[in-house]
Amino acid sequence: MEEIKIFCAATIANISCGFDVLGLALDNVGDEMIVRKVPQKGVTITKIIGQNLPLETHKNVAGVAALALLSKVDTDFGFEIEIYKNIKPGSGIGSSAASSAGAVYGINELLGRPFSNHDLIEFAMQGERLASGVAHADNVAPALLGGFTLVRSTAPLDVLKIHTPNELYATVIHPQIEVKTSDAREILRSSVPLKTAIKQWGNIGGLISGLYTEDYDLIGRSLEDYIVEPIRSILIPAFNSVKTESIKSGALGAGISGSGPSIFALSEGSKNASKVAIAMKKVYDKVGIAYDVHISKINTEGIKKL
Ligand code: HSE
Repeated sequence: MEEIKIFCAATIANISCGFDVLGLALDNVGDEMIVRKVPQKGVTITKIIGQNLPLETHKNVAGVAALALLSKVDTDFGFEIEIYKNIKPGSGIGSSAASSAGAVYGINELLGRPFSNHDLIEFAMQGERLASGVAHADNVAPALLGGFTLVRSTAPLDVLKIHTPNELYATVIHPQIEVKTSDAREILRSSVPLKTAIKQWGNIGGLISGLYTEDYDLIGRSLEDYIVEPIRSILIPAFNSVKTESIKSGALGAGISGSGPSIFALSEGSKNASKVAIAMKKVYDKVGIAYDVHISKINTEGIKKL
């Protein structure tokens, strides 16, 4: 194989209660990428369509992730990458993760798969370090493995794929402002009162259990974040109204997607997910904020070959 074309999924990190540990992959929102073997060693990003991002390998998350992988293998050829961006940077649905994950996945395929998808997470995390200053894995893990993922530990890396209930759908609304992950991390407190931590890890356990047992009510009850959302939600216009209206219209729960400003809701069934989209749009139409909306099944596959 000399060339591969792939779909790199957008992702929702944190999923309310699981800051930096939980994530899920979307099915119909994502970037496309072409990775090609070339005689010249190293990594060259030849094209980025859709967004104004740096082409220099060391300044581009895909380039940095690709170099991290190539530092572990000997090749007498190199790679060229074309990126077709549909995910807006700073939108909260894993734009940098899609590029980082896509680059390492594509190169690994062209090398004959010396690494497992779990191994690739570590390389893709280097792209996240460039984007946000922190090598968090909660977007790149679902982008690479698909479905819901739990980052049990980053050192050593231990990521688990969690069962996805078949009727679970995500609705995501992206108000057209940009929130940099680094800024959204800067405002967080570094310590958490024990009482708050107890409530939070109760929810993480509840959510994981609800996913495995396909208990939609339990999933809904567990989608509450006592630590990060109260602080970050001030960066997002009309956050509380969007959340309340989503739940009123049938969502199991709602919260900030990654570091925002996108807001996500999970629903049982596509009909409910569509009703939630209407409710979300109504709030922003009233306030006069432009937005994009996505309704998606959970993508249990991760990166897809096109
Ligand atoms: N867990 C990260 C954060 C995800 O919330 O900062 C960023 O998309």
